[in-house]
Amino acid sequence: MDNKQIAITQFGEPDVLKLQTSPIPQPQAGEVLVKVAFAGVNPIDVKTRAGLGWAATQNKDNLPWVPGYDISGEIQQLGDNTQRFSVGDKVAGFIGFPLQGGGYSQYVCVPESALSLVPDSVMLEAAAALPLGGQTAAQALDKSQLKEGEKVLILAGAGGVGHIAIQIAVAAKAEVYTTCSEANLDYMATLGAHAINYQFSPVSQRLQDIDVLIDLVGGDAALDALKCLKDGARVISVPTISAEMICEKAKLLGFEASGMLVDPNPEQLDTMLYMVSVGLLKTEIFATYPLEQAMDAHRQIETGHTRGKVLLDMQ
Ligand SMILES: NC(=O)c1ccc[n+]([C@@H]2O[C@H](COP(=O)([O-])OP(=O)(O)OC[C@H]3O[C@@H](n4cnc5c(N)ncnc54)[C@H](OP(=O)(O)O)[C@@H]3O)[C@@H](O)[C@H]2O)c1
Repeated sequence: MDNKQIAITQFGEPDVLKLQTSPIPQPQAGEVLVKVAFAGVNPIDVKTRAGLGWAATQNKDNLPWVPGYDISGEIQQLGDNTQRFSVGDKVAGFIGFPLQGGGYSQYVCVPESALSLVPDSVMLEAAAALPLGGQTAAQALDKSQLKEGEKVLILAGAGGVGHIAIQIAVAAKAEVYTTCSEANLDYMATLGAHAINYQFSPVSQRLQDIDVLIDLVGGDAALDALKCLKDGARVISVPTISAEMICEKAKLLGFEASGMLVDPNPEQLDTMLYMVSVGLLKTEIFATYPLEQAMDAHRQIETGHTRGKVLLDMQ
C-alpha cells in the first residue's frame, strides 16, 4: 500500500501542489503511525507554497516538501517504548511545526507526546479544525491577559482563528466585539459577539474604550483598530508579516503590544477537545476537499473570506 501525499514541488501558484506517493513510514521508538483522516489547511501553508515566510526560506532546498500541521485520524501502529495509545485510538495533533510539516499525508509518524486523544463524541473533522488555529486563539487570549468584564475587539472573528477566539473570550465573560463582512454578521452574533461590518465603515468610527485588541488581520485594518483602544490597552498582533510595524505604532501610542508565534501544546488541545465534547466550543468547517483537490483548498484560503476552517479529506 502507498502513502499518498500532497507536496509543494516548487514555490508558486496552487498548481505547484502535486500528488506524490511514498512508502508508508515505520514508527521509530516513541512514535506512533497515524492513518490521517483529515488534515487542516492554514494560511501559513498557503504562504509557504507561495514561497513567503520563514517556513519557505527554511525549506527552499528541501522541495518537494509536504506541508500540513493539523491532523486527525486513527492510530495504526505503535513504535517501541510507546504507552499512551492503542491501535485504533482516535487522535489529533499539531505536528511538525514549523519546519517539518507533513500533515498532507495519508500516513504519518508522530511522537506520541505530540498527540491528543479525541473523545468519542467529537468528530474527526472538528478535531482537525482545532490544532493550529484553536491554539493560536487560546494563546493570543492568554497572552493578552483578558479578564472578565473587559472589552475585547477581535479582528476577523469569522476566520479559522477568530471563530475560536470569540468563543473562548465569551466563555471568559469578556464583552466581545469583532469585525466581519456583511455575510458573517449573523454568524458572529450566534457566537455571542457584537459584530461590526468593516465593509460599511472603519471600526474606529464605531467603537471606543476597548481594553484588548486581538489583531488577526494586520496592516491598515489593525492600524485603524488602534484608534478604538482605551489608555493602557493591550494589543496582540498575530499575522507575523505586519506584527512588528503594528506593535511599534501601538507602543508609540502608549499601549502594551506584542506579536506571537503559536506553540504546539498537546495539553491545551486536550482541553479544547474536551470543550468541544461538552458543547462549550463549536468548530466551523467551511469546506472539506478530497486530497487530490488540495489546490482548490488553497485557492479558497487565498480568497481571504473563509468562514471557519478548510480541511482535506485524506482517505
Ligand atoms: N503568528 C502565528 O503564530 C499565527 C498563527 C495562526 C495564524 N496566523 C495568521 O493570523 C491570520 C488569521 O489566520 P486565520 O487562520 O484565522 O485566517 P483565515 O481563516 O484565512 O481568515 C479568514 C477570515 O478573515 C476575515 N477577514 C478578511 N479580511 C478582513 C478584514 N479586513 N477585517 C475583518 N475580517 C476580515 C474573513 O471574514 P469576512 O469573509 O467576513 O471578510 C474570513 O472569515 C493569518 O494572517 C494567519 O497567517 C498567525
